[in-house]
Amino acid sequence: MAKQPTHKCTECGAAHFKWSGQCDACQAWNSIIEEAPLSTGPGKKSLGAMRGKALALSDLNAKDDPPSRTASGVAEMDRVLGGGLVEASAILVGGDPGIGKSTLLLQVAARFARNGMHVIYVSGEESAEQIRMRAARLKLSESPVRLAAETNLRDILTTLDKERPKLVIIDSIQTMWSDQVDSAPGSVSQVRAACHELVTFAKRTGTAIILVGHVTKEGALAGPRVVEHMVDTVLYFEGERGHQFRVLRAVKNRFGPADEIGVFEMTGRGLAEVSNPSALFLSDRDKPAPGSVVFSGIEGSRPVLTEIQALVSPSPNPQARRTVVGLDSQRLATILAVLESRCGVPFAGLDVYLNVAGGMRVNEPAADLAVAAALLSAREDISLPPESVVFGEISLSGALRQVTQAENRLKEASKLGFTSAIGPAQKKLPRVDGMTLRTMPDLATFVQELFGT
Ligand code: TYD
Ligand code: MG
Repeated sequence: MAKQPTHKCTECGAAHFKWSGQCDACQAWNSIIEEAPLSTGPGKKSLGAMRGKALALSDLNAKDDPPSRTASGVAEMDRVLGGGLVEASAILVGGDPGIGKSTLLLQVAARFARNGMHVIYVSGEESAEQIRMRAARLKLSESPVRLAAETNLRDILTTLDKERPKLVIIDSIQTMWSDQVDSAPGSVSQVRAACHELVTFAKRTGTAIILVGHVTKEGALAGPRVVEHMVDTVLYFEGERGHQFRVLRAVKNRFGPADEIGVFEMTGRGLAEVSNPSALFLSDRDKPAPGSVVFSGIEGSRPVLTEIQALVSPSPNPQARRTVVGLDSQRLATILAVLESRCGVPFAGLDVYLNVAGGMRVNEPAADLAVAAALLSAREDISLPPESVVFGEISLSGALRQVTQAENRLKEASKLGFTSAIGPAQKKLPRVDGMTLRTMPDLATFVQELFGT
């Protein structure tokens, strides 16, 4: 392999093989610096000095147990991280363009910096001036966060090695490029190389690193899947366009629980934290109407009430429509099949529209019964009792299965003024003041008792 230049002129960018007092390209004096070497490529040492050596678990140093965390003060973010930022960790934040990733991370960076942390925000997408304008809009102009508008990985690593920040934000990983890889920025090999370099830097120096990643049309993080494996934590920032709610969701977390969510609201002055999401999701609830059911769900460690809405109408087409927003369409198909085969309620020839109000996404199987209730209520044009919430998992036999954290679900519902819940019988459920649980053994009984069909 040809020898790589190791030095660079900070004035004109010319590459040199060794240090000298004057740059022979631009004649500037004292402008040549040594650059941080890239650690990818053949012949370079891998992480750690104990290569290939086997150790007993008990011999390992226990200094990182539990890992030391720094809370940002943005409670919704800290919760998703599992209690705060872990030293030397690598975090990937993915989301659709325009959803608010840069806004969120600039706010988080400013919060950390205000608490005395050395933070560098590297943007490959916006100029320093654009970031400054955003900061002004967020009322963060006075923040001590350091900014860099740069895409060359080697330059970034050189700066980071010199400054040794505690936190680096890279916005975005797709705009970074390494001169050791012969392909365009954003290509799979560039993204992989950039991620590898940055994660290696984090592990070597103890710097925490947050990478912003774009999401493809299909909703997966753009670039190789291997990037998700390289980092410690993967967070998705989601929300429906046209809604102001944004949910930050942990899908992988080596240092905390996955499935934890943080809820934010996009305002004219940036993202505001939402500490009581149930109240927010139900705040603009229409009057109880056929097809509308309140589901008492659990997101991570927190109960969240959401409204599930269904509309069922005769289909003009030979192939009836199934439109779902905020829920899994496969799950809807299964529930429709169970309703038809086990309860004798057919949906053939009927268009079905299903929606979670407020732009929330519900992934829990415990939402099954609420979905079935919304579908039946819309089909039969009968409203459910307005002060009741619904939960329960439906099995393929039509039986109702127990859900986790039933007590928390009931408590949250009670806090928001509901007085009854409908769901499967729960073992060892303590009494929750002000709430009655109407238990159902199976879906057929539920259909019979509430809709009389
Ligand atoms: P941005 O953080 O640039 O999104 P991403 O980095 O994920 O692409 O957010 C852009 C959107 O957020 C844009 O449509 C404007 C809106 N926004 C607000 O509503 N309020 C604000 O204070 C800011 C900064 C942005
Ligand atoms: Mg952005």
